[in-house]
Amino acid sequence: MDYNRLLVTAALPYANGPVHIGHLAGCFLPADIYVRYQRAQKRDIKFVCGSDEHGVPITIRAMKEGVTPQQVVDKYHAIIKDSFEQMGISFDIYSRTSNPTHHETSQAFFKKLYDEGVFEEKESEQYYDEEAKTFLADRYIVGTCPVCSNPNAYGDQCEKCGSTLSPEQLINPRSALSNGALVKRPTKHWYFPLNKYEEWLKQWIVEGKKDEWKSNVYGQCKSWLDNGLHPRAMTRDSNWGVPVPLPGAEGKVLYVWFDAPIGYISATKELTPMWSDYWQKEDTKLVHFIGKDNIVFHCIIFPAMLKAHGGYVLPDNVPANEFLNIEGDKVSTSRNWAVWVHEYIKDFPEQQDVLRYVLCANAPETKDNDFTWKDFQDRTNSELVSIFGNFINRAFVLMHKLCNGKVPKLHQDVMDDADRALINEIQNAKANVEANIENYKFRDALFEVIDLARKGNKYMQDKEPWIVAKTLAENPDNQKLIDNCLHLCLQLTANLAILANPFLPFTAKKMCGMMKVVDRMLEWENAGKINLLNVGYPLRAPELLFRKIEDEEIKAQVEKLHANLVKSQAEQKVEQKETTAETTSNIPEQKPEITIDDFAKIDLRAGTILSAEKVEKADKLLKLEIDLGFEKRTVVSGIAEHYKPEDIVGKRVTVVANLAPRKMRGIESKGMILMAQNDAGKLIFVAPLDEALNGSEVR
Ligand code: 2FM
Ligand code: ZN
Repeated sequence: MDYNRLLVTAALPYANGPVHIGHLAGCFLPADIYVRYQRAQKRDIKFVCGSDEHGVPITIRAMKEGVTPQQVVDKYHAIIKDSFEQMGISFDIYSRTSNPTHHETSQAFFKKLYDEGVFEEKESEQYYDEEAKTFLADRYIVGTCPVCSNPNAYGDQCEKCGSTLSPEQLINPRSALSNGALVKRPTKHWYFPLNKYEEWLKQWIVEGKKDEWKSNVYGQCKSWLDNGLHPRAMTRDSNWGVPVPLPGAEGKVLYVWFDAPIGYISATKELTPMWSDYWQKEDTKLVHFIGKDNIVFHCIIFPAMLKAHGGYVLPDNVPANEFLNIEGDKVSTSRNWAVWVHEYIKDFPEQQDVLRYVLCANAPETKDNDFTWKDFQDRTNSELVSIFGNFINRAFVLMHKLCNGKVPKLHQDVMDDADRALINEIQNAKANVEANIENYKFRDALFEVIDLARKGNKYMQDKEPWIVAKTLAENPDNQKLIDNCLHLCLQLTANLAILANPFLPFTAKKMCGMMKVVDRMLEWENAGKINLLNVGYPLRAPELLFRKIEDEEIKAQVEKLHANLVKSQAEQKVEQKETTAETTSNIPEQKPEITIDDFAKIDLRAGTILSAEKVEKADKLLKLEIDLGFEKRTVVSGIAEHYKPEDIVGKRVTVVANLAPRKMRGIESKGMILMAQNDAGKLIFVAPLDEALNGSEVR
């Protein structure tokens, strides 16, 4: 090992909303697992984080909620901090960037670069919103992404394809603040000349980190470097943020991506007077845990800033995760498609480790992954309950029943190959968990832990001490076999507590309680030993470590997700209505909420209009013959004022196929076709996609 202390950071979350499970899986949970493991190794380590309280995400949220930015950050900082505490994310400090230490630290950093002539001062024309009276940078400006055509890309980044953008690159840019016209106005800013650090970065990353960094991280860096780096403005026109510490820079603040990573330094300063050891001594290993959207900032921009400043260590590794989707769809705060951590804690009290387990077992380490409630249930019930919990419970119950509630002896004279193999497995598991965690492969590490419990179950099943117990009357010596089996199962339990502790800290603590051992037993050096529990030591009764997750709980969560989505869409409509009254004037009120079950009652099918004719003495009605794949239907539809019969033959339609039949002008109509309204009030077909087969369900 070529370092003597570790500094671990987790990306400072924006205090513009609560944290969701995607945040946990992306960086906080892997960081916490890593740190807990290192602490168990008794290494000198500090784990720092805090709220990112500046930048456009905060000011936009303040505008939306009609409060001040300070009120926004106060509210969400408290919620986020509490969520982390509840989930056992064990920061040594959870700070915030509105703290004075941070303002001073980031200003001093900027001032040093300024004094040394690092920045380029440039006046340029930037987009300005005349109605909101503000310059538009970053997320204040929205437009179509030049890379993937997402119509809602931001001025700094497209969240759909991950491209980093500048406002100038957006197609059809518009203000996110108002409907005001955009004009260009001159404004002065300080640019960090990233281009001057290109060669150095290439050497450091391409030559130094290629085999060390995860391929997703290295790949992103490489493509940035291959595309060439450009000077980047490190200041913004705004009243919210760290003021630029220069005379004549009123109304200008540090760019949030300049100040936020310095937040890691400020937090360490607040944590310990020895902060400079962690930041300035070469034998520190600095590791940044982040999500993939933060790679460029942590691997290119911040290291270049540190290099320009001088005297700081650079990150040894930046193990970024990809994204976690929810039920097949991208997490979206604006659509409220997310599982919020504070809500999970309310809905599943005392079940923190279950979520930690599922998020780690399914972590998006190498590619985007999907969280589903069904998978949450399956993994909990079939892995935590049936394998891990079950093994420990059986070992304890049998020890109470067959060994007087005390740790039995290990009788060397009757030890067999299976016993020796189990001891081997314990030692192998230790080595494998360790190697995987050191290499940031937390899923594989966790798999090793569960696999060891699985082997414990198999061992116990093969040894059948409860059957052996029946032979004791004839052969009292067989108690030795029972003793050996339970001795090893209990030592394995102690080992499982140590190995699981970084992942499942609440469970490991409970296990220590059951075994009546102090937390020190969880130190890593104890893993692999089979003398952790003293012979003759009385142990407590087993506690329930994990409970089964029931179908109803899962169903309720899925319904909640969908209900949140519908609610947020309704809220957005109201918002739009308030801001753009004219375009929404003919949009009807949203109907009362329904459940997914209500929706499932509607049988929607794709179809094609085979023929259409006018209904006599009815100006509005057309009689349609529709091919539904499995049958042909007559449907009478009120679209005659919008379409001529001959124009709609062959049109694809979506049919409500299980609507009760109704007679209209003597014709029985069996179903209804879906229509929407355009700007001019004309009815337009809600057509299924071209490939949808007639008769296929629309869901
Ligand atoms: O993406 C984000 O949520 C940012 N607030 C992360 C900042 S990380 C660091 F640099 F502080
Ligand atoms: Zn894009």
